[in-house]
Amino acid sequence: MSPDVVTPDAGSARRLGEPLPGELLDEGERLSPDELRQLQLTRLRATLRHAYDDVELYRAKFDAAGVRPEDCRTLEDLARFPFTTKADLRDTYPFGMFGVPMESVRRIHASSGSTGRPTVVGYTQGDLDVWAALVARCIRAAGGRAGHKVHVSYGYGLFTGGLGAHYGAERAGCTVIPASSGMTARQVQLIQDFRPEIIMVTPTYMLTLLDEFERQGIDPRSTSLRVGIFGAEPWTEEMRREIEDRLDLHAVDIYGLSEVMGPGVAQECVETKDGLHVWEDHIYPEIVDPLGEEAAAEGELVLTTLTKEALPVIRYRTRDLTRLLPGTARSSFRRIQKITGRSDDMLILRGVNVFPSQIEEIVLRVPAVAPHFQLQLSRRGRMDHLTVLVEARPEADTALRGGSAAAILQGIKDGIGVTVDVQVVDPGTIERSAGKFRRIKDLRGAPSS
Ligand code: DLL
Repeated sequence: MSPDVVTPDAGSARRLGEPLPGELLDEGERLSPDELRQLQLTRLRATLRHAYDDVELYRAKFDAAGVRPEDCRTLEDLARFPFTTKADLRDTYPFGMFGVPMESVRRIHASSGSTGRPTVVGYTQGDLDVWAALVARCIRAAGGRAGHKVHVSYGYGLFTGGLGAHYGAERAGCTVIPASSGMTARQVQLIQDFRPEIIMVTPTYMLTLLDEFERQGIDPRSTSLRVGIFGAEPWTEEMRREIEDRLDLHAVDIYGLSEVMGPGVAQECVETKDGLHVWEDHIYPEIVDPLGEEAAAEGELVLTTLTKEALPVIRYRTRDLTRLLPGTARSSFRRIQKITGRSDDMLILRGVNVFPSQIEEIVLRVPAVAPHFQLQLSRRGRMDHLTVLVEARPEADTALRGGSAAAILQGIKDGIGVTVDVQVVDPGTIERSAGKFRRIKDLRGAPSS
């Protein structure tokens, strides 16, 4: 076993927050800022050329915008190129945006497509190699090392979470436990018996697992888990604290999306936990005004792939809201601030913009309620109305529940500026997530009772 492997008996998980020793950084992580910019420009120009030559839709879009790949002489020139949206992928369903012949595509993933057609993405062997290397980089940044066991509870299948995490963990030299999502009681048993140091799962499914540990009479702090790599949905600093305290592990954030690659586009480093470094040697980030096209300091994240072969993506509008910050633990790579939400998850209540993450912050500060909550959107007259359903902790009596509801209501009024209804409900009555949780339940189309 190499000396950098932290064994389960090394004491509290908090010891694992060591910076990655320099010799374990990969080639991309060692680039100086100048070398990185140079590499990005070379790769960007090649990607624009590949997109224009090999994908009909890009050729048409570039022509319509009056730009050619050779017009990109500096990284700033990228702003002259048109955006790509989810609609482009849907319109060319299933394979119309692939830039290589089908024989070169080794794998396909797809989004669930709850409305309309799913979006389909493809990978060459080269794309799969880069993806695995980047997820391995994420795992190392999170504190994982060769020799650790990684329990993967992201769903396996067309969703990129399970397989993306899986191959990355193998590439990092870890032992993978491909649990996938669901069968919660068995997950707990596997964690007890196999003693993984690392878990990769959505934060809301981690909460479901935590409750299951407690139901089985197991103290979650006593498990072998030392690092949780949580993503695929927004989660707040309050949620980090809740999970870290109940499990005694490091909770770090991983970001990604299938259209650009899958998990592993950006990752938080365990020693700083200060936002997610974007792996800029393969993916180029910009921020634009969510309602327009102009560059902005804070707004919608736009991503361009720099090395993707099967599905080059130029200026993809992610809808995810964040800010770009300078690098810290990986100084050449910029960071994105923890994603606060998606522009399409934003509720507008009497003219006030409300994100579920703002409500999460307030709910999780109230001690007598559990971190399980759901937002129900309904119509009252011509106005949208929001009801926050939140579970009581088992020990909370009627008086505590009433006090908690009042505290949440007041917190939302003071902090966000809207009036909502708050219902503190019995433990275990809000549906549980086994993957991405649908925080908002839209009842506006439902017949009123
Ligand atoms: O959720 C990929 C993934 C799997 C990321 C596992 C991390 C871990 P999609 O299903 O295409 O891919 O969904 C992408 O999920 O645009 C964000 O809105 C949201 N999302 C992903 N990671 C985070 C995160 C995967 N860390 C969409 N924080 C993205 C907030 C996230 N939102």
